[in-house]
Amino acid sequence: MKRIGVITSGGDAPGMNAALRGTVRAAISRGAEIIGFLHGYSGILAKETMSLDSMSVGGIITQGGTILRTARCKEFMEFAGRERAVGNLRELGVEGLVVIGGDGSLTGARAIHEEFGFPVLGVPGSIDNDISGTDFSIGFDTAVNTALEAIDRVRDTAYSHERIFVIEVMGRHNGFIALEVGLAGGAEAVIIPEVPFSLLDICDTMLAMRQKGKNSSIIIVAEGAARASDVKDFIHKHTGLESRYMVLGHMQRGGRPTAFDRVLALRLGAMAANRLLSGYSGEMVGVDGNKLVSHPLGYVLTTKRTVDPEKLLLAEVMSN
Ligand code: F6P
Repeated sequence: MKRIGVITSGGDAPGMNAALRGTVRAAISRGAEIIGFLHGYSGILAKETMSLDSMSVGGIITQGGTILRTARCKEFMEFAGRERAVGNLRELGVEGLVVIGGDGSLTGARAIHEEFGFPVLGVPGSIDNDISGTDFSIGFDTAVNTALEAIDRVRDTAYSHERIFVIEVMGRHNGFIALEVGLAGGAEAVIIPEVPFSLLDICDTMLAMRQKGKNSSIIIVAEGAARASDVKDFIHKHTGLESRYMVLGHMQRGGRPTAFDRVLALRLGAMAANRLLSGYSGEMVGVDGNKLVSHPLGYVLTTKRTVDPEKLLLAEVMSN
């Protein structure tokens, strides 16, 4: 392979730029040319390219977001869109593609690998950390730390006013961010979609805590489990305790990546380029412990990542 392409796709994640830097510099060091496409798969369809040399990825390791921009592309979900995209790639002499993104983006990569035999390598980039085949996806650590900083600040005002605060975090259909920040932020309750919950039980817990002399509480709710405003209203109605809510939203996706995410992203980006240029395809790179691994996209996308039961139990025990 002499020329490969790279995209960032789906929801952005802090560390995507570092992954791009890893991919570009590893490819160049192997003597390959690398082209970036803007706006994810949409940029392949529109032939929006950005030539990438070593200098073009200088200084981006510190930046959140993605210099390639990103998008969720509806057309690429259809066979006809993918056929046109692969045609464009071939016309531009692009022989393989590195896809940095979450499960939707990796699903697109798997499709062009299986339908057209087009060489692809996936890099897990998503704050949600819901991708199998890797212990961490790029952006999760930064998002957790960003959310945690906000939660710590809210804790101060919750304490002063003796209030209950319900804080909603991202994670789409999963509770990985919620559980992690719940543990790290010492939350009194964590509500996630993976575990059935009773708001009446949570109300009882809040009242029992008041009896014990604990006058403020933080409840973390994953966006996939419930709306923070509804939880707040329910608690207020059933306990009479003064409550507020906050939705952290997209601020969790922005900001400078942590050292952990930067190093993870560099390693995964470089590995993806190296494997693609060595003739591997239809895989996603990841980490298992501290070791780099690579798994077939078929396995990654059909295996559900589950929450760690030990962490769930710990959150339960610590909240008492
Ligand atoms: O997948 C990342 C994520 O931030 C989810 O946590 C969230 O549900 C979703 O993207 C939000 O998507 P959008 O930016 O399109 O609103």
